[in-house]
Parts: sequence; C-alpha cells; structure tokens
Amino acid sequence: MMDITQVFERINFRIRPMCLSDVEQVVQIDKLSFTLPWSERTYRLELTKNSAAHLFVAELEDQLEQPVVGYVGLWFIVDEVHISTLAVHPDFRGRGIGRRLLEEALDGALRLGADLVTLEVRASNQRPIDLYKKFGFQVKARKPRYYRDNHEDALLMILDDLPRWRELIREG
Ligand SMILES: CC(C)(COP(=O)(O)OP(=O)(O)OC[C@H]1O[C@@H](n2cnc3c(N)ncnc32)[C@H](O)[C@@H]1OP(=O)(O)O)[C@@H](O)C(=O)NCCC(=O)NCCS
Repeated sequence: MMDITQVFERINFRIRPMCLSDVEQVVQIDKLSFTLPWSERTYRLELTKNSAAHLFVAELEDQLEQPVVGYVGLWFIVDEVHISTLAVHPDFRGRGIGRRLLEEALDGALRLGADLVTLEVRASNQRPIDLYKKFGFQVKARKPRYYRDNHEDALLMILDDLPRWRELIREG
C-alpha cells in the first residue's frame, strides 16, 4: 500500500520573491492562518514602500491558477533580520514548504549580512516553535499579553549563530 507521505513528496514548488500580483492569494492564506491577519494594504506597502522588507512566496510549479501556497517575510534592520511573517496554506502544511521558506529567509538574512535573526511567536503555537528550534532558534524572552486579540504571551526567539545555521541543523 502506498504511504500517504509519498504522495505529499511529489509536490513541486519553488520559492521566489513576492510581487504585487501575489497579494490577493497571500491575504487569503493570511486569513486562514492568523487571528490578526495583515490587510492587503499592509502587504502592498511592504512591497512598495518598506525598503527594509523582503518577502518570498512558495509557488506550485504545476498550477497556473492560485499557485501561491505559502510565504515568508523579513525585515532587515541595521545588522538584524526579524522574521515578520511565515505561513503555509492549511491544505499544504506538513509537506516541507514551511521549512523551505524558513531556509530561504535565513539564506536571505545571510546575503544581507545579518548577524542574528529574531521573531515572535504565540506561546501556544507549538508547530512553528518546534520548527524554529530545529533551525537553532532559542527562546530568549517572554512578552506577557503581547497579542491584542486574546492577550496571549509572545515568545521572543533568536538565532544568534546565523553563519552556522546549516551546520546546526545537520548536527540535529
Ligand atoms: C508553521 C507553518 C508555517 C509550518 O509550515 P509547514 O509547511 O506545515 O511546515 P513543514 O511541513 O516544513 O514542517 C516543518 C516542521 O513543522 C512541524 N510540523 C509539520 N507538520 C506537523 C504536524 N502535522 N504536527 C506537528 N508538527 C508539524 C515539524 O516540526 C516539522 O519539522 P520536520 O519537517 O523536521 O518534521 C504552518 O504550520 C503554518 O502556516 N501555521 C500557521 C501560521 C503560523 O502560525 N505561522 C508562524 C507564525 S510565528
């Protein structure tokens, strides 16, 4: 019998910079992924006015309509990169797309010359927390009642050995 994970592995996708024509699809995924999603206007401003912002999408290779299935955003500020957003469409999670997007973000951070990478995550959001830990991020602080919808705490996670991140994930 065929293992279902073998079916998942057949998905072909590529990562490329986000452009304005992706925004509609990105906003749809944002609404499915976050209780406080960003607006279409916010994404447009990120792409056109925020010179610190770098955004990438994951796009299915074999699909012409609605090919965007995930995205990651980063802000490069002085010598740090902050991961501003990361999401994968619920129907496409668990197939390695989130991991690839995070790899792209860290490679991007290296190209920009950052020394460390920071992010905030809801304290109860275990799936991304596990993912970030696999890449060497550590919880450095807790921000009480950070999220305005349910006053949940945020965890501040930091990857402070960016140049070695590939070695760190190989070492497990
Ligand atoms: C976090 C998120 C982007 C991960 O994307 P994804 O494509 O499902 O991730 P991947 O398939 O690459 O899996 C990466 C890791 O996530 C975890 N993971 C994946 N599927 C999982 C599942 N079904 N149950 C628990 N953990 C799972 C594992 O740690 C996995 O690592 P592994 O590949 O070594 O097993 C996705 O779950 C998502 O969009 N969540 C909602 C938005 C969100 O919370 N974003 C983070 C904001 S800080």
